[in-house]
Amino acid sequence: MTNAPDHPAGLRLLLERVYDAREIREKFSAWHAPRLNRWERVRAVAGAALCECLQPARIARRELPTGESCWFAPGVRWRVRDVDPACRIAVAPHAGPAAEADFPPPARSHWLDDAERVAVAGKGDWARTLAGMQEGGSVLIHGRGDPAAAVADAFRRTCGRLGWHPLWSDGEDYIAWAARVPEAIALADYLGRDHALIEAALARHRQGDPLGLQWALFMLERHMQLEETFLFDIYRRRGGSARRIAELEREHALVREDRARLTRPQTLRRFWRILEAHDEKEESLIYPHLTAEEDLLVRAMVFRAR
Ligand SMILES: [Fe+2]
Ligand SMILES: [Fe+2]
Repeated sequence: MTNAPDHPAGLRLLLERVYDAREIREKFSAWHAPRLNRWERVRAVAGAALCECLQPARIARRELPTGESCWFAPGVRWRVRDVDPACRIAVAPHAGPAAEADFPPPARSHWLDDAERVAVAGKGDWARTLAGMQEGGSVLIHGRGDPAAAVADAFRRTCGRLGWHPLWSDGEDYIAWAARVPEAIALADYLGRDHALIEAALARHRQGDPLGLQWALFMLERHMQLEETFLFDIYRRRGGSARRIAELEREHALVREDRARLTRPQTLRRFWRILEAHDEKEESLIYPHLTAEEDLLVRAMVFRAR
């Protein structure tokens, strides 16, 4: 796992709590991330824990033998898999510098920074570009025309190992982030990566990239409409709480209210805090119920906001 064992000096321990196997399954089997300026140390207290970490183009795995620990940085999605009945883990959130709680920290931009830049040669030439992607790689693709059919075809040809996330489009020019991953993508992985890319674009905005905010707002609106149009409904139909969805939809409204004024630091601060709490709720409570057939994932990838 690439984020271990590195962590900055000067972190402040907030608490440490031990979870048994049942609690680990309840609380840490879905993606979860330390938010704002928090870092988390996970230690195997008894038995071995298999930790997974959602990375741009793969899911990294690390087995923690008894007594060993690893660290997760702010925004890094992690979970525990295949929990042995004897397994117990200690999770210790730590606070980083207070100033880093207010805005997307620069480190989160790596999802976009590390992607290879690719230009699609001509209108309609998406298929050749997608077919040439290397496993384990991520790209920022800039092209013209509608890529939906090429994306659906590439997704099927790779047996679900292609992730496609639109960053921006004006109907003619199109920019997307794509990754070729080694294993078929689950809908919860796809949506977690969508959140991470929005955070990455906001982090670039904070670093002065003029496209950062444009991409973040485009992605965010597409993502919220995707949830409101059909994902929340699937959760409801599978017995999910209507009250919880109403709360998430209220948070969407707050985010939409703030987005026109994000150049003001106090608005960006509030927006960032709402978004962090909102994404954590969705990833841990809603997305695990959205196990999806292949068709739903393709629909999500090529979904266009109104
Ligand atoms: Fe949402
Ligand atoms: Fe979401």
